[in-house]
Amino acid sequence: MAKEYINGSIQNIVTKMPDWMSKSVSCTDCHKLALDGASFKAVRKYCIECHNPDYGLLYDAWKDALDSKTKQLYKNNTNTLNIQNPLRLVQSYGMHNFRLSQMLLKSMDHD
Ligand code: HEC
Ligand code: HEC
Repeated sequence: MAKEYINGSIQNIVTKMPDWMSKSVSCTDCHKLALDGASFKAVRKYCIECHNPDYGLLYDAWKDALDSKTKQLYKNNTNTLNIQNPLRLVQSYGMHNFRLSQMLLKSMDHD
């Protein structure tokens, strides 16, 4: 599912909105096993390693924006089941393609 999300192609909908890094960054560039082999190290660190410290702040900003918006939509739409699936998708995979996430959240926001 992460792969489909990164490529902007989910639930039979090709959004033509792949993530910026879909061509050049692989799963294991962001998800590396820690030395104990049992856990994954925090992704934020790798944003900074490949880019610069500003991208750690960008990571935080993306996370905050997705968290608060998904929470708000869950709260406002407890009875509308048709948005539960896309919302759950964004909640799990949203960080993999921020522009796609923003687009999906906007399409669910009817206030
Ligand atoms: C550019 C960095 C990046 C790349 C590339 C990336 N991920 Fe992720 N992934 C993240 C971030 C950020 C999170 C959110 C959790 C976190 O911050 O630790 C995440 C979370 C996940 C999760 C947990 C989802 C959940 O339900 O909470 C899975 C599974 C996952 N990634 C799989 C993959 C797979 C498979 C690929 C390759 C197809 C991939 N990721 C590529 C950054 C990345
Ligand atoms: C393995 C190295 C690597 C990691 C890890 C990585 N990136 Fe990138 N990122 C790249 C490369 C390379 C590009 C340029 C992709 C292209 O133009 O094809 C890019 C492009 C981007 C862009 C597009 C616009 C720009 O500023 O260049 C953003 C935004 C971005 N990355 C944010 C992040 C964030 C946030 C994380 C952590 C979740 C992250 N990256 C992790 C290598 C990485």
